[in-house]
Amino acid sequence: MRLSKSTLSNFEDVFHQVFASISFSVTTSNSSRLIFLVSLCFTALIVSLLLFRGFVRNPSFSATPPDFSVLQRILVPTSSRWGLSSSQLVARSRVSSHRTIWLSLDALVHCIISGDVELRHPPRDLPDLLRSSVLVDGSDVRLYVHLFHRFHAILWTILARFFDPGMPLANAQSAYGRSLDFFDLDFVPHRKLKIVIRHLTSSVRQGVPTSLLLTTKAQGLSMFDPRFTITALFFRPPRTTLPFTTSLSTVLTLLGTHGGDISVLSVDNISVRYAESLFGAANTLCNDSDIRGKFISRNSLVGWRRECLHGVWEAALLKAGLLVKWKITFRKN
Ligand SMILES: *[C@@H]1O[C@H](CO)[C@@H](O)[C@H](O)[C@H]1NC(C)=O
Ligand SMILES: *[C@@H]1O[C@H](CO)[C@@H](O)[C@H](O)[C@H]1NC(C)=O
Repeated sequence: MRLSKSTLSNFEDVFHQVFASISFSVTTSNSSRLIFLVSLCFTALIVSLLLFRGFVRNPSFSATPPDFSVLQRILVPTSSRWGLSSSQLVARSRVSSHRTIWLSLDALVHCIISGDVELRHPPRDLPDLLRSSVLVDGSDVRLYVHLFHRFHAILWTILARFFDPGMPLANAQSAYGRSLDFFDLDFVPHRKLKIVIRHLTSSVRQGVPTSLLLTTKAQGLSMFDPRFTITALFFRPPRTTLPFTTSLSTVLTLLGTHGGDISVLSVDNISVRYAESLFGAANTLCNDSDIRGKFISRNSLVGWRRECLHGVWEAALLKAGLLVKWKITFRKN
């Protein structure tokens, strides 16, 4: 079955409306209803994923695993021998016809976080790899996303509308949240958006321009697109899934409803600048021995590798146009 793109986005609109009404009823009802709704979500998701299986980008598993040497153009082994996770990565990757190498998303991420491989040149390769494919030695290297992970990303995004990650906002900053001096809505749970904006607009000083940052997903990126999973990968606590459940116009409307005394001075798309600053911050976190040591002692070695990957991944998503970063400047009259 083939469905057109417009059917797909209409379907998603309906989906959003259903969940908007559900989220209203959840706030006014008891937990048994919530359980019912969760099972409803599961059923709806399974049915829809099956319906849309034509969009699953999976390699054919009759194909053979790729050559180590080709992968080494974009990945660097951290020791002279390939570790266990890199063997798994190779075993779970496939070369299909037309010289396409399919890398498993979860195996790749696992391999990097385990410390067996590093990306050779993230600013050069990662935006293309996340957007579609990167050309290596005449072969197209692409990511594929297992159905389970796609299902998980959609479900998490939907459920996160109903729950707060339970993180006090003041502490909810990743290593990158602190690199800029603006309030970043990436750390605000969907349910708290209204309250946080009301609090923010009432606490700013009159006449002083204030900026806040907002990430949104690319307009055409549907939940059923495998790239949704790739894009949502690091929007886990302390971050929230707000970029996937809200829009620029919603946030502007919320700012405008504060008794009419807020003027929005400018709305800028700062994706390119922000991506560059994230690449820079990731470079410092990963390569500056002092900063690295401090981060590892406060968190863990695995936490540090994840944070390094997070920085370049998010920067690459912005460069690839899968995420957009906005800076909204406003003033209280
Ligand atoms: C934001 O800027 C980026 C980079 O210039 C561009 O690719 C993207 O289309 C812009 N998005 C919107 C919604 O303006
Ligand atoms: C760390 O430095 C190396 C060598 O200069 C570079 O290739 C790598 O991309 C840097 N790491 C990050 C995350 O930028």
